[in-house]
Amino acid sequence: MTPVVFAFPGNERHGQAVAAAIGGEPGSIALHRFPDGEMSVRLDTSVEGVEVVLVCGLHRPDAKLLPLCFAADAARDLGATRVGLVAPYLAYLRQDRRFNPGEAITSTTFARILSAHVEWLVSVDPHLHRYPSLSAVYSVPASVVHAGLSIAEWIATNVERPILVGPDSESEQWVAEVASLAQAPFVVLEKTRRGDRDVEVSIPQIERWRDHTPVLVDDIVSTARTMIATVGQLLRLALRAPVCIGVHAVFAGSAYDELRSAGAVQVVTCNTIEHPSNRIDVTPAIGRAVRDVLAYRQGRGD
Ligand code: R5P
Repeated sequence: MTPVVFAFPGNERHGQAVAAAIGGEPGSIALHRFPDGEMSVRLDTSVEGVEVVLVCGLHRPDAKLLPLCFAADAARDLGATRVGLVAPYLAYLRQDRRFNPGEAITSTTFARILSAHVEWLVSVDPHLHRYPSLSAVYSVPASVVHAGLSIAEWIATNVERPILVGPDSESEQWVAEVASLAQAPFVVLEKTRRGDRDVEVSIPQIERWRDHTPVLVDDIVSTARTMIATVGQLLRLALRAPVCIGVHAVFAGSAYDELRSAGAVQVVTCNTIEHPSNRIDVTPAIGRAVRDVLAYRQGRGD
């Protein structure tokens, strides 16, 4: 039976790629907001007896979560054999502990809600810092797409003599992998974050890479303060103007313009969140991951 792929608004590109990769039928979904602010969700494509794939990136997640849950439940009510979620960007993973007394650990609540509504999940480089894997927080099978190879290929093609720079210990996992794939050296900085927009970094022994082009690599660029502080330090040390690469172009407010004004020679992201800086296409990798999930499930006969 042909799976049906519903792309939420803004996710059409990923939806098409997933449908093509799995030989699926693009589904039609109608979202309507009533005057009182509540939502209605309608699936205009039959899902009786078929696998359903919902494609919904979760950047700015609060307004997306409820319609997503409504659609997942509707698909199941209407006879879908299984409902999965492709979220190229998965939100709420950074609040992975109680940083201040009384704070909610939002990552666990968010994961519990999604896990109650979908039966599997595919995402790209989720922010796993204190969680060893998505399975540590999501109770449904979760498959992770790594953007590292695509980033390494972009660097190898576009940057002469790169030295990769990870702005903090959390970025080491991405930077080390990309550096190894791009066959480039890397350094990891120490970061102190005192508030949302108050970030300081220290750069150990970078001077010896003066004849290289620094390439900052991080998973999320949100306020861009991490990258802006790093760009500032590199320029103060009279290194070359760096290239900044983020997996997820979250870019809160004017962060993108501020990062470019700070002296980055180029700002590049993967297309997990649609943004003018998208240069690295991860849609084929997402399509392959969904195909593997569905093939595995069919192979198991469940
Ligand atoms: C942190 O743990 C992440 O890997 C990023 O470094 C961080 O989310 C970047 O945030 P911002 O752009 O707000 O400095």
